[in-house]
Amino acid sequence: MSTSIGTPLSPQATRVMLLGSGELGKEVLIALQRLGVETIAVDRYDNAPGQQVAHHARTIQMSDAAALRALIEADKPMLVVPEIEAIATAELQKFEAEGLVRVIPTARAARLTMDREGIRRLAAETLGLPTSPYQFCDSLAELQAAIDGGIGYPCIVKPVMSSSGKGQSKIDGPADVARAWDYAMAGGRVSHGRVIVEGFIDFDYEITLLTVRAASGTHYCEPIGHVQVSGDYVESWQPHPMHPAALARAQQIAQTITADLGGQGLFGVELFVKGEEVWFSEVSPRPHDTGMVTMITQWQNEFELHARAILGLPVDTSLKAHGASAVIYGGVDAAGLVFDGVADALSEPGTDLRLFGKPESFVKRRMGVALARDTDVDAARAKAKRAAAKVKPRAA
Ligand SMILES: Nc1ncnc2c1ncn2[C@@H]1O[C@H](COP(=O)(O)OP(=O)(O)OP(=O)(O)O)[C@@H](O)[C@H]1O
Ligand SMILES: [Mg+2]
Repeated sequence: MSTSIGTPLSPQATRVMLLGSGELGKEVLIALQRLGVETIAVDRYDNAPGQQVAHHARTIQMSDAAALRALIEADKPMLVVPEIEAIATAELQKFEAEGLVRVIPTARAARLTMDREGIRRLAAETLGLPTSPYQFCDSLAELQAAIDGGIGYPCIVKPVMSSSGKGQSKIDGPADVARAWDYAMAGGRVSHGRVIVEGFIDFDYEITLLTVRAASGTHYCEPIGHVQVSGDYVESWQPHPMHPAALARAQQIAQTITADLGGQGLFGVELFVKGEEVWFSEVSPRPHDTGMVTMITQWQNEFELHARAILGLPVDTSLKAHGASAVIYGGVDAAGLVFDGVADALSEPGTDLRLFGKPESFVKRRMGVALARDTDVDAARAKAKRAAAKVKPRAA
């Protein structure tokens, strides 16, 4: 691909469309803006974070194939960059087949990672990667049969269409099964009753291995450690120390899955580790929420790496500092929050903050993130949590 970049808002512009303009899309858009790309930010609601920093803001239902087709035909981007899962990915495959746009990393990757079934079957059954034992179920009776038939207790139930832990719960014994089923039905993104039940992996720790497929080949960032509460990320840090054999295995798994998904861009490969043993959990064909820590730890953060990779530019995944991130939740249901304590939060040297600018807050909505660097990861984690705690969101 040509590495020339045109002038934004001119006929020569390099036009890139982001499908999904939340906090991760916003940072990708900023990275693209810095490279002189003309940007189109799409989301399902007005004034989404990324729409506030792009040349053009569009609001459509991205799961609506006709609406998506009309928008891409009208705006004529060169690249379409999915930033969320709930997109009419079959329509993207048609566009790609017609040769009208390039989908990042590929339309097939967007389709396979749209729900848990496509990617899990590819990883475990086609590529033979180690995963938790699993089964897909369409009813409470099937769920019970899968558990009794070999998955066993404890296990985890997740709607096939969900993210950030929505509808996900752990089952410790027979008494929990019906409750977990009902919870999954209420928490799935679309109302069809399919779940995955996974055997519980008693890992020592879990990591995100950010993997970049660039023109120059495949590159890995230092492993990112993280803590999840009810399936949602609350804290991450980089680097997470790993046994060399486990790191080699992790990179090998990341290489296998990203090579199969293909295309160019950054991927977040989620892995569980116990001793030298590594399991594949899932992969995002785009920047990962736990990777927000790279905004303070790497010379090129995950968003800049994604922007560079998709444009065919050189990348540098090296670490700049040890650091950590801590999530700031809204804490209230309200429109137009006010954040108090910002100066206090930034008062410690080596601290930074991102407030996403979301127009509406929910108690458990991610509204910002605190970042910290320090001499080691433990000090950085403590500092990031101190900074996050000092930011006090309140209803206006
Ligand atoms: N089989 C398992 N064994 C042990 N822990 C698990 C298992 N599956 C999931 N978890 C835990 O739950 C977390 C969330 O699971 P998963 O990544 O599958 O859900 P998600 O909704 O896609 O989350 P996100 O969108 O935040 O990545 C994992 O990071 C891990 O901590
Ligand atoms: Mg996950």
